[in-house]
Amino acid sequence: MNNHKIGFIGGGNMATSLLGGLIADGQFSNTIWVSDPDVDKLDKLTQRFQINTCIDNKALVEQVDTLVFCVKPQALKDVVFELRDMLKNSNPLVVSIVAGIRESDISRWLNYSAPIVRTMPNTPALVQSAATVLVANKQVSSEQRDQAESLMRAVGVTIWIEDEALMDAVTALSGSGPAYLFLVMEMLEKAGHKLGLPHDVARLLTIQTAFGATKMALESTEDLHTLRKYVTSPGGTTEQAINVFQQGNIQQIFDEALAAAHKRSVELAEQLGGA
Ligand SMILES: NC(=O)c1ccc[n+]([C@@H]2O[C@H](COP(=O)([O-])OP(=O)(O)OC[C@H]3O[C@@H](n4cnc5c(N)ncnc54)[C@H](OP(=O)(O)O)[C@@H]3O)[C@@H](O)[C@H]2O)c1
Repeated sequence: MNNHKIGFIGGGNMATSLLGGLIADGQFSNTIWVSDPDVDKLDKLTQRFQINTCIDNKALVEQVDTLVFCVKPQALKDVVFELRDMLKNSNPLVVSIVAGIRESDISRWLNYSAPIVRTMPNTPALVQSAATVLVANKQVSSEQRDQAESLMRAVGVTIWIEDEALMDAVTALSGSGPAYLFLVMEMLEKAGHKLGLPHDVARLLTIQTAFGATKMALESTEDLHTLRKYVTSPGGTTEQAINVFQQGNIQQIFDEALAAAHKRSVELAEQLGGA
């Protein structure tokens, strides 16, 4: 991938994270292009990463083997319409990180049989710890799959799905998931403070406990239920708390919350990708 030329349309938060990860992974900075309407943003990216930048999306397309759409969902259709004649000629791999816009919509807007990989990263990409799901259409070669995967691995772990319809479930779980975990941590912190812990102590204990539990889960071969059982001694303190959560039907609350997020993801895809 080191000499493979990659262009990012949109030089915002996600593109910046991907750039940082790619360069740390050994991608040569002179093989990377970014286009964005904001010249100051581009200057900062050039200073930080020594990459190529331009305000003209078409000038970028002339240079690259892989094109990565990193604009907001509302901006994508115009970008695709602006570039599609050029793309049809050069036929690069198209990777989209744009939330909520389906491969079939991008393909329809492009109006040719483009190789497209749709990805769904999440916010921890900003600290190179994303969980990213990828789905490829049938025009994508195995070499292009590898290219898309190594691009997204620059900001965390990757996993492929074969059925794009599952992207709404992915959105409900990992896309929105960081916010659910922040909510749980927020509640732990508040409950600890109510028991008398100073705010800073409750905050540190909450964050380190979440980090430590996550690290244990990542490093263990046991499932999550078993890990929970290990720290829940019969008659102990943890069991008392777990009983309260279960009496409050916590699984049903999570089921309903994810179903609501899933429904909204389907609605947004209809709105954003329509027409
Ligand atoms: N942030 C996340 O955690 C996350 C997670 C999953 C997916 N995503 C997806 O990633 C995409 C990018 O998110 P982000 O947080 O990086 O957004 P962002 O910081 O707003 O970056 C988007 C960039 O695209 C630029 N842009 C707008 N119109 C353009 C055009 N026609 N040509 C070239 N560049 C253009 C914007 O410039 P202006 O600001 O001047 O408009 C902005 O610099 C979104 O579609 C989002 O759904 C983000």
